[in-house]
Amino acid sequence: MTKNINIRPATDADRDAIWEIFHEIVAAGDTYPIDPEMSREDAFAYWFQTGARAFVAEQDGPASATLRRGKQIVGIYTLHPNQSGGGAHVANAAFMVTKDARGKGIGRAMGEHCLKEARRLGFRAMQFNFVVSTNESAVKLWQELGMKIVGTLPGAFRHPEKGYIDAYVMYRSLL
Ligand SMILES: CC(C)(COP(=O)(O)OP(=O)(O)OC[C@H]1O[C@@H](n2cnc3c(N)ncnc32)[C@H](O)[C@@H]1OP(=O)(O)O)[C@@H](O)C(=O)NCCC(=O)NCCS
Repeated sequence: MTKNINIRPATDADRDAIWEIFHEIVAAGDTYPIDPEMSREDAFAYWFQTGARAFVAEQDGPASATLRRGKQIVGIYTLHPNQSGGGAHVANAAFMVTKDARGKGIGRAMGEHCLKEARRLGFRAMQFNFVVSTNESAVKLWQELGMKIVGTLPGAFRHPEKGYIDAYVMYRSLL
């Protein structure tokens, strides 16, 4: 477990760091069904969509664009209603940990924080709409956090190296 992880709501001052992490992950094209060339403007429209609560995970770290007040932003997540109207009581979230900081407990800390936050906000369930089946660390982590694969979308993701592969819908109740 990584020490000194602080998870807090994102502010406008975090936008460069959020973009840096978002762009690194989306440009790789292997985990999110998002255009790898998505612009910064469109990225923020997605990340800060209606009803979204965005958070950053920071820890002590070396200087870079993601360094602020001696803290390095190493992970980001956004939590929002999965649908509107009659579907707004189910939450959805997206998580990103910068490559160099993976495997050290930041994703787990953000996942746990997110479920707690979703419960606090009164959401009745959490749904992930599109977990790429080859994303082993994500599938395993989400299962450990109580998310179950409730559906498989055959060939729904075109992986840059593996071709057409399945994506999972994952779900858990928060009641
Ligand atoms: C998925 C992601 C958020 C996980 O964050 P992370 O900080 O690396 O995860 P953690 O260090 O907290 O690891 C949590 C668990 O994931 C699993 N895990 C982590 N790395 C793994 C690996 N290389 N292989 C298999 N499982 C792994 C383990 O179960 C681990 O728990 P453990 O350390 O107790 O064994 C991160 O890898 C990431 O941002 N990936 C790119 C974007 C992405 O895929 N987002 C999720 C889309 S659904």
